[in-house]
Amino acid sequence: MPSALVTGATSGIGKATALALGDAGWWVLASGLDPDRGREVEKELQARHGGAFLGGDLTDDRVPQLLVDRLLEETGRIDLVVNCAGIHFLAALDELELESFDRLMAVNLRAALAVARAALPHMLQQGGGTVINVASEAGIVAVPRQVAYNLSKAAMIMLSRCIAADYAHRGIRAVSVCPGTTRTPLVEEAIASAPDPQAHERMLAESRPARRLGAVEEIAAAIVFVASDRVGYLNGTEVVIDGGYTVV
Ligand SMILES: NC(=O)c1ccc[n+]([C@@H]2O[C@H](COP(=O)([O-])OP(=O)(O)OC[C@H]3O[C@@H](n4cnc5c(N)ncnc54)[C@H](O)[C@@H]3O)[C@@H](O)[C@H]2O)c1
Repeated sequence: MPSALVTGATSGIGKATALALGDAGWWVLASGLDPDRGREVEKELQARHGGAFLGGDLTDDRVPQLLVDRLLEETGRIDLVVNCAGIHFLAALDELELESFDRLMAVNLRAALAVARAALPHMLQQGGGTVINVASEAGIVAVPRQVAYNLSKAAMIMLSRCIAADYAHRGIRAVSVCPGTTRTPLVEEAIASAPDPQAHERMLAESRPARRLGAVEEIAAAIVFVASDRVGYLNGTEVVIDGGYTVV
């Protein structure tokens, strides 16, 4: 059975992805910050094709290796890493605190790089593996008032390209999945923190041709598609699932 590590799997897109991978026959190690939610996800995975939860703050440099080691202990393989843990806040450059910038980059970018780096030697040893970086439409266009987040997601897109450039010939795939605004706790918090939350939510929906927010199941389905060996020639690039936001 193929095995996957999904970070950020206690909530939102990551949780939906862990469960969709479970439905598609994967054994899944789910990670995230909240142990209660993690145990719920673990139960749901065990009712599918098996899985476990291991919590941990990914800004602690020991955690990426602990996650990889646990997946190897459980299944002896690491076929897929989905880097989905992420945080977000609104700030244009004149509003940005450097400490907040560092924290966001540590979670969104450095942790994704560290998890991929920890998984890579085992993937190379077993002859292949896939890294999916959950980036964003905000890594492609400059969404206003979120300079730190946009930068982190643009860098994640480049991280996938770099991994593909360096390791595709050794059986490694790295692909960015770029969701548009999707209804999750992260987005609900962003809406609530806007000066006029209702107007902000309307703007988020109406700023895209689809005129609605995405659903977590839609993003999870794209990730399961990218993870499949059937699209083994898909490498280094982005799969954008954003209701058309980046095409207008
Ligand atoms: N929701 C959207 O509209 C949207 C759009 C584009 C991209 N994304 C990206 O998708 C990913 C998931 O977003 P979501 O909306 O589901 O968010 P969410 O807030 O619902 O979930 C975030 C997850 O990340 C984990 N996490 C946060 N900080 C962590 C840390 N320090 N260590 C370990 N885990 C940590 C949380 O425990 C949780 O499991 C993020 O990377 C986000 O940037 C979301």
